Amino acid sequence: MSNSNYAGRAGETDIKIEAIDVRKTFSARGNGRKDVNNLTTDALGGLNLSISRGEFHVILGPSGCGKSTFLDLVAGLTTSTDGTILIDGKPVTGPGPDRATVFQQYALLPWRTALGNVEFALENLEKDSRKRRETAVKYLDLVGLGDFCGHYPFELSGGMKQRVAIARAMAVGPEVLLMDEPFAAVDALTREILQHDLLRIVYETGKTVLFITHSIDEAVFLADRVSVMTARPGTIKAVVPVLLTRNERLSDDIKVSEVYTGTRHKLWELLKEEAAKAGVSG
Ligand SMILES: Nc1ncnc2c1ncn2[C@@H]1O[C@H](COP(=O)(O)OP(=O)(O)OP(=O)(O)O)[C@@H](O)[C@H]1O
Ligand SMILES: [Mg+2]
Repeated sequence: MSNSNYAGRAGETDIKIEAIDVRKTFSARGNGRKDVNNLTTDALGGLNLSISRGEFHVILGPSGCGKSTFLDLVAGLTTSTDGTILIDGKPVTGPGPDRATVFQQYALLPWRTALGNVEFALENLEKDSRKRRETAVKYLDLVGLGDFCGHYPFELSGGMKQRVAIARAMAVGPEVLLMDEPFAAVDALTREILQHDLLRIVYETGKTVLFITHSIDEAVFLADRVSVMTARPGTIKAVVPVLLTRNERLSDDIKVSEVYTGTRHKLWELLKEEAAKAGVSG
């Protein structure tokens, strides 16, 4: 399936992830302070979204609008106050090997090498240690770290650590990759290289990706479709297809193309109102 047919036609394809009227309210105890007792935050206010199988879907929204809250719900790390999240038509009831998450912070085990970190993720899935090693090496190769298997996290750059985190997520063979601002902590050049490599890997493996970012440029470069969220309580304000083919993204300098700049402008117009409401920049 070529991306030019795919982008913007999600409704016609298989739905992989579906959120139906998802709400999440947090209660803060306030540590006994009377003035903050029973303080509640409505993080998500009835979010509806469908993501197709094999889609690269990016969520863009102002700080505090509920992006991470939503991703955690899809990952099964928390439960919603109301509404349903379906994966392949079945409600999410907890974490599972069909989903893997990459967070902004690398979350690597400092006492294990790059190889050891990836192997660790496989311990519950593969009993044979030789096969575990083979799989771990394969995925470290895929992210370009074949020569760094024996390095400990403190011996790796920020970008390399995030590559290990991606290898670890991919190695467990998830169908869905959940990424919460995974490149926010790396420098601009490394970020561009990681974005490019991520697209290559995702296209090769056919994963469904739900990716969160504050960056409009990152959203346009990566996404088949971008969902813009409202200020809290977060809902989906608009879903914008990015009408670039997958080949174009990997081969051309698409950032000067009219589709790129036009989509960028559209997203900025949608986001700036919400950022103003949130009182913070997106
Ligand atoms: N465990 C929690 N307990 C109480 N409130 C929470 C909790 N987690 C998140 N919140 C609140 O829910 C709202 C949404 O938070 P969330 O982390 O989902 O935002 P976000 O869109 O990911 O923001 P950012 O872009 O800054 O990462 C915020 O007001 C936050 O204070
Ligand atoms: Mg967040």
